Amino acid sequence: METIIPTRLSAFELLKEYTSNASLIRHALVVESVMLYFAEILEEAGKEKWGVIGLIHDLDYEKYPESHCRKVREILTEKGWPEEYIRAVESHGWKLCTDVEPREPMEKVLYTIDELTGLITAVAILRPSKSILDLTVKSVKKKWKDKAFAAGVNRGVIEEGARSLGMELDVVIAGTIRGMQNVAESIGLKGEMET
Ligand SMILES: [Fe+2]
Repeated sequence: METIIPTRLSAFELLKEYTSNASLIRHALVVESVMLYFAEILEEAGKEKWGVIGLIHDLDYEKYPESHCRKVREILTEKGWPEEYIRAVESHGWKLCTDVEPREPMEKVLYTIDELTGLITAVAILRPSKSILDLTVKSVKKKWKDKAFAAGVNRGVIEEGARSLGMELDVVIAGTIRGMQNVAESIGLKGEMET
């Protein structure tokens, strides 16, 4: 099978083929945007690749929840996707559903921000403005300490990811908010704020 270089368009088409749940699609768009933002601040080459990996990272989640992060290898291999994309997707489930450790910067960022976007979304929708646009790191940190809030979000994974990137947690949170702000409208988090 010939290896292809996936484009954003082909990745999005593939995602829609495997995912019908609107909140999963929204989550994919969130993670894509945050990946693009971090590629920019870390001055990484291949920005489109970072975005594509963010977009596709939960490809197998809806149809194959039992083999999440593993089934994806089969699907993407069949489509001729390059190994580095497949490995990056697998590594976001490190110690949770795979033993593929995040190694490359794009893998570490994906691992770190995936669940963090869920926490940030939960904090944003509780605000009077219901918006990500006026959300501060401080508000997120306050809820961070409240373990009962968004209890499913594994804070330990996020902290470990930030450490592996050599970034302060506050910097990771700030970057994730910024990345999400870039797509506030399409992810339903513009709220009542004017842009
Ligand atoms: Fe995810």
